[in-house]
Amino acid sequence: MIDILETLDALRARVAGWKREGLRVALVPTMGNLHAGHYSLVELARGHADRVVASVFVNPTQFGPNEDFARYPRTPEADAAGLEAAGCDALWLPSVETMYPYGAENAVRMRVPGITDVLDGAHRPGHFDGVATVVSRLFNQVQPDVAAFGRKDYQQLAVIRYLVRDLAFPVELLAGETRREADGLAMSSRNQYLDAAERATAPEIHRTLLAMRDAIGAGTPIDRVEARASERLAAAGFSVDYAVVRTPALEAAGNDFDGPLVALVAVRLGRTRLIDNLDIPRT
Ligand code: PAJ
Repeated sequence: MIDILETLDALRARVAGWKREGLRVALVPTMGNLHAGHYSLVELARGHADRVVASVFVNPTQFGPNEDFARYPRTPEADAAGLEAAGCDALWLPSVETMYPYGAENAVRMRVPGITDVLDGAHRPGHFDGVATVVSRLFNQVQPDVAAFGRKDYQQLAVIRYLVRDLAFPVELLAGETRREADGLAMSSRNQYLDAAERATAPEIHRTLLAMRDAIGAGTPIDRVEARASERLAAAGFSVDYAVVRTPALEAAGNDFDGPLVALVAVRLGRTRLIDNLDIPRT
């Protein structure tokens, strides 16, 4: 049976018991409404630790005022059952009051400079500071030896690497590959917002990323690759926030740069915002 922990005392007692036994503890932070992408992180974490804790918390501080905090899907029973089947040992399910004892408005806040100014950081002001705020709390609450995050949220992973290094959190980070539907659409809790027509359009994001990778491979200049990708996505019916090719540090690369690159896309389809990315390894 998976252990469902809802108070800090219960969580601390459980983790302290494991640590006394010399066991290595992993954390998989999530916002719930879990899918195979989340469960693959549990599996990854299992391979690097003796016990796995998943957290489910829809974090108010990372949503903008006009974003989907209120309607974000909340499915705690299904999540608990799925986590148990995935071999997770404990589910950390804090309330907003437990996570933010002075209230979300009065929380001590993280501010991560630099990397949060670009791409999703620019389109969602304060978003990554909210992520860093809650992930810091989760690390202090659970005190994991290792924590798993998905490459699907490429910039989030970069923000968390920065946070861990800068604050010297004693946590080893694991990066999980992006799980996709059969048609290439990256799995996401937000996919269920899509109506049938939007769902049929959505795989064009992954096809565009593949085309961007192929075009870079064929020597097309980066600015042309980006412009073509934006045109292609707009023609398919998306509002394009960005379609770019960057270095792994998310910096712009000149056309003579020959290291690895990453293509990143953020689009809106109706009321739904979707992001995805694809590594462009180069030899
Ligand atoms: P959430 O969107 O629930 O995602 C939880 C973790 O699952 C993240 O590390 C994310 O990158 C990973 N993930 C999402 N979709 C994936 C997919 N298709 N394949 C593989 N991994 C995938 O990201 C968050 O929650 C929050 O910002 C959080 C880090 C929990 C802080 O609130």
